[in-house]
Order: sequence, then structure tokens, then C-alpha cells
Amino acid sequence: MSPSVEKGAAIDADRHKREAAERAVESIQPGMVVGLGTGSTAAHVVHRLAALRSEGKLLDVKGVPTSRRTEALAESLGVPLTTLEAHPVLDLCIDGADEVDPALRLIKGGGGALLREKIVAQASRRLIIVVDEGKLSPRLGTRWAVPVEVVPFGWRSQALYLEGLGARVTQRLGPEGSPFVTDQGHFILDCAWGALEDPEALAARLQARAGLVEHGLFLGMTSELIVAGSRGVEVRHP
Ligand code: 5RP
Repeated sequence: MSPSVEKGAAIDADRHKREAAERAVESIQPGMVVGLGTGSTAAHVVHRLAALRSEGKLLDVKGVPTSRRTEALAESLGVPLTTLEAHPVLDLCIDGADEVDPALRLIKGGGGALLREKIVAQASRRLIIVVDEGKLSPRLGTRWAVPVEVVPFGWRSQALYLEGLGARVTQRLGPEGSPFVTDQGHFILDCAWGALEDPEALAARLQARAGLVEHGLFLGMTSELIVAGSRGVEVRHP
């Protein structure tokens, strides 16, 4: 792909992310407490909420951010925030995803926020996932490695365990080449298995291992998928 075609595709993808995010914000009702996801698509949700507030709408809506990054963005735009301690059950969570299969199973964690994202999603009555059409995949693992969040203590043992499960394991690095550290102080191991035969069985293997804090397979959690692309915005349910 030439650089100008690549740039055009990125602009289209971002427009589609914004369209999906804005459709999802239509589900937010006055007074709701909403989980705010992480990533460029979820950032459009925060921007839309801020724009509605400037029109005097949804002024009593509060967000629970899934990362420090989202927290900083919401604060900079004046979107009120609260915590899961104050609101242990949320009305709704809106988040992006890296890969979505036809059963609306997901791979998440490209932004490194998968642990908080899963905690907030599981604390929410509904999880709305917003994506551009480029995230759709016939089978999880085709497009994206599965991020696995691990405790730094003994992380190389966990990498060997994951290799033993057939993964090609890469430790995620930060911008300066040092290990990427999550908001919770953990490392991320990106695990490429290729197309996954049985995501549920893999999730069970990952959950069984001490030191593996969480993984980026979000299975049976999506209440609604909003996907935007060249043919418009589509809403899907599992
Ligand atoms: C962050 C995530 C994001 O939702 C995922 O990476 C999608 O990001 P983007 O909306 O920027 O494409 O899981 O941990």
C-alpha cells in the first residue's frame, strides 16, 4: 500500500471509529454511570460525551475510566468521573476491541488496559463494543495476538508456560524499549497462536496458571456490537 493510500485508509478507519462511538453514546441515558473504555475508539466516546455536555445534555452522567489514559482525557474535557468503589454496578460500559469474531467474542488489550477493561465490563449490566469494520475477523487470533498480563515476578516462567501452549510469545515493550508496564504494575506478553480453534478452552488454560493475571479474550461478554464501515453503521447482537 502506498503511503497516501495508507493514510487515507487510516483516516477512514478513524471516521468509522467515531461513527460507531457516537452511535453507542445514544444508549447513554441521563443519570447513568458508564464504563469508559481505552483506545482511540473509546476516546471518541469521551469526546462525544464532552460535546453533549457543552450542549447542556447528559450533565449528570458519570464515567468510570478503564485506564489512566482515559482518566486523563476525561478530566481534560471536563467529563465527571467516579469509581467502582462508589458504584460497584455500572449501567453500561462502552469500549473498543482489537478483533471481533462472528459470535462477538473479542481480543482486547492492544492498549494494555485489558485487566481494568475486563473488571469494568464485568461490573456493567451491558457491554457495548464499538469498532470499525477492519476489526471483524472470521476467527479470533487471525489478525491479532492475545495479550496476556503477567506479574513481573517469574514472568519468564509464564512465557515458557505460554510457549508450551503453542504460542509465539513477545514481551511488549514501551516507547523507550523497556518493558511496557500496565496501570496495575504488570507486564504484557503478546501471544500469537494464529487462528484459535477453541478460545474458551484456551481461556481456561490461561486462568489456571498463577502469575497470569488476566488475558485479552473477552468471551460471552458483548451485549451489543456497533460496527461502522463504508456501508454505514450496523448494530449486532450475540
Ligand atoms: C485497549 C483495548 C482497545 O479497546 C483496543 O486496543 C482497540 O483500540 P482502538 O480503538 O485504538 O483501535 O483493548 O486495551
